[in-house]
Amino acid sequence: MRTTVGIIGAGPAGLLLGRLLQNAGIRSVVLESRDRPYVERRQRAGILEQGTADALRAAGVGARLDREGLEHTGIELRFDRRRHRVDLPALTGSRTVTVYAQTEVCKDLIAARLADGAPLLFEAQALAVEDAGTDRPRVRYRHRGREAVLDCDYVVGCDGFRGVSRAAIPAALTRTYERTYPYGSLGILADVAPSHDELVYARGDRGFALLSMRSPSVTRAYLQVPAGTEAGAWSHEEIWDELDRRLEVEDPAWRLARGPVTAASVTPMRSHVHEPMRHGRLFLAGDAAHIVPPTGAKGLNLAVGDVVTFARALTAHLDTGDPALLDAYSATCLRRVWQAERFSYAMTTLLHRAPGATGFDDRIQLAGLDRLTTSRAAETELAEAYTGFPF
Ligand code: APR
Ligand code: PHB
Repeated sequence: MRTTVGIIGAGPAGLLLGRLLQNAGIRSVVLESRDRPYVERRQRAGILEQGTADALRAAGVGARLDREGLEHTGIELRFDRRRHRVDLPALTGSRTVTVYAQTEVCKDLIAARLADGAPLLFEAQALAVEDAGTDRPRVRYRHRGREAVLDCDYVVGCDGFRGVSRAAIPAALTRTYERTYPYGSLGILADVAPSHDELVYARGDRGFALLSMRSPSVTRAYLQVPAGTEAGAWSHEEIWDELDRRLEVEDPAWRLARGPVTAASVTPMRSHVHEPMRHGRLFLAGDAAHIVPPTGAKGLNLAVGDVVTFARALTAHLDTGDPALLDAYSATCLRRVWQAERFSYAMTTLLHRAPGATGFDDRIQLAGLDRLTTSRAAETELAEAYTGFPF
């Protein structure tokens, strides 16, 4: 098989890239190792920055997002039994975020691609990217038991943190930057209306808790847990009890509503950046190139920024013959990636309690939070980063 752009992975990065190229009249083939139900059910992120929601609308896949997405104009910080609302549009000049689950983004993009009749192969596992340094890169893959080759003009590795494309960049040319955090994140989904109409980020002496949502009837919540904790180690009742303690505020009217937990999983917390994000005609996008801890809700948004940048650059190159934007791809993306890495690191270390943290560490965190509630400059800095950096 031969195509212009071989896309490895049908997560949000690969699927949105396929859509953007389709809109620009550029042929592509998407290879995805899993089957469609798996991709459509895998529980991941759910907060879209303003620019991400706008990019989905501009790509023509915003109809259900506009009907079912929940636009949020604020977030709440809790610490020391106090609560403080951050008004996002007031601080950023109208920017908001939208709650719309990644599963729904993926479903919309898969439906659009199949409706267009554009190639999307499920159960097609890329085995290797070859000759990335030449103008004829190839992807070797196995589709339902048979090996095949996809000949491409360009390959974009959108195959996530455990994909194969990163390995096609010679080790001597790459550098990785990494931090692992000494805690994990236990995330649950529960069939109960969210107990607050905005997201609540809570810092407590027992660790971090986040109250989020997927819809008006589904709560999403996270608890900081010791690194290596298994999801099954906590009973559902223990999870609710702990959320209750960590979200506690000086407000008799506040109550955490409990309901049946339908999913629970633990994510390790790490920051990881692979540089550069390009080698010859192989480009990396999304989790294939960088990971952030979930605290800042940046993973999905970074993936979208990467593929918007790539699609623009390739379109410009094919239209005008000028490779400048493609040549700048890695540097352009990495600037935004490092801003998101910095923000995710700052939010994580502001709100989580490290094992062995001292009274000094606690006071520094509380001073940081107090600063956010008393300085408009500090709060604006948070709101700008939270609603997203420009693509
Ligand atoms: N061949 C084909 N597909 C592969 C291969 C392979 N060798 N390896 C992985 N994949 C597929 C995975 O099954 C998955 O569907 O690549 C896809 C990668 O998708 P994601 O992991 O969702 O990554 P990405 O599209 O970059 O999305 C950004 O950031 O914080 C997260 O939750 C956020 O998942 C989101 C991610
Ligand atoms: C989520 O709902 O999954 C979520 C929300 C906000 C975050 C992280 C995750 O900061």
